[in-house]
Amino acid sequence: MFSFDPVAVRADFPILSREIGGKPLVYLDNGATTQKPRRVIEALSRFFSNENANIHRGVHYLSREATDAYDGARDLLKERLRVPASHELIFVRGTTEAINLVTHGLASELREGDEIILTMMEHHANFVPWQVLAQQTGAVLRFAGLRDNGELDLEEWQSLFTPRTRVAAFTQVSNVLGTINPAAAMTAFARERGALVLVDGAQALPHGPVDLGAIDADFYAFSGHKVFAPDGVGVLVGRREILDAMPPYQTGGDMIERVSIAGTTFRHSPERFEAGTPNISGAIGLAEAFRYLEGLDWVAVNRHEHELLVHATEELEKIDGIRVFGSAPGKAAILSYHCASAHPHDVGTILDTEGVAIRVGHHCAQPLMDYLKVPATARASFSFYNSHEDVEAFVRAMRKVERFFG
Ligand SMILES: Cc1ncc(COP(=O)(O)O)c(C=O)c1O
Repeated sequence: MFSFDPVAVRADFPILSREIGGKPLVYLDNGATTQKPRRVIEALSRFFSNENANIHRGVHYLSREATDAYDGARDLLKERLRVPASHELIFVRGTTEAINLVTHGLASELREGDEIILTMMEHHANFVPWQVLAQQTGAVLRFAGLRDNGELDLEEWQSLFTPRTRVAAFTQVSNVLGTINPAAAMTAFARERGALVLVDGAQALPHGPVDLGAIDADFYAFSGHKVFAPDGVGVLVGRREILDAMPPYQTGGDMIERVSIAGTTFRHSPERFEAGTPNISGAIGLAEAFRYLEGLDWVAVNRHEHELLVHATEELEKIDGIRVFGSAPGKAAILSYHCASAHPHDVGTILDTEGVAIRVGHHCAQPLMDYLKVPATARASFSFYNSHEDVEAFVRAMRKVERFFG
């Protein structure tokens, strides 16, 4: 039933047959956003051609159909992600909004001197909202450092817990280093010490299914656009009793029980946190992406991605002056590097002339850049639809950089 043929899978993504400046597109910016399979594109087209209506409000046929599709998307995601019965799944704009929703909800909970544990590998989305919350409440941020190979220093992380620790927030997979953190073990450790746990899953789901029941974090966030689905939609899974005790993040239509001039009462989650018309088509596209991903043999996918990473790393390291960041065992196929002779922006620009799309800059992880003592890196991030020919084109383009800046 499950299969994985890298060549056949590539044909499922129409954009990958594009040419850029007369050269075949080599898309290695999957950490920023992933491409969409035809199946997702067609699901959106089908929705807008046949079912489009606002949800939860209409008695007419189309509205009922759109409501069923939206609610059905939630049910499908809950099932595929193995969301425990104690948790609810809220549609949001993406990981950033999911984390802001949580920090907003905790603002009245935290007291001066309470502690929030983060790591040095967080994306700004899982850093800045906590920093702002700390400034608002007088809470203190504490940071766990990394080992030389880019792994989280788990002993240091564990040593940061004190009786004042209220929250531990960490990424499951680093968007810069590719490091995979042991999310379930970390969550168990933090929860045993009475801390709330938020896991940023933005870079985890693109590389394989995630079992949220096994992780059992209080909050888990991810973005649709990074899992082969549309942008503008994402998910926050949260423990229902915590969510329902939080003030709503936004207020307005669809999230109320009763509104009168005297006051308003709010619904429970998920509606409590879905004020206004949600991204209906986005949720439907996200569910379709999960249906697509479900058909893949993920053991074979992971092997393929790992082979691409090894191939690219080995070839890149043959080039003089290359420093690769992150070599944690079993890391995800994300390759960040610095080239002694050229600024990352020049690397990215030259690669672009060869049709090779990579990301350059601080990757929304400036504290990590400071920690690594570099202003920026170049990053090639792979997905299952990439091929060894893509790796070869990337390496050829890097050789051009070497010749140019020598
Ligand atoms: C680890 C991680 N967390 C959070 C985000 C933010 O995601 P979004 O911009 O979709 O909200 C990203 C995006 O790159 C990411 O890589």
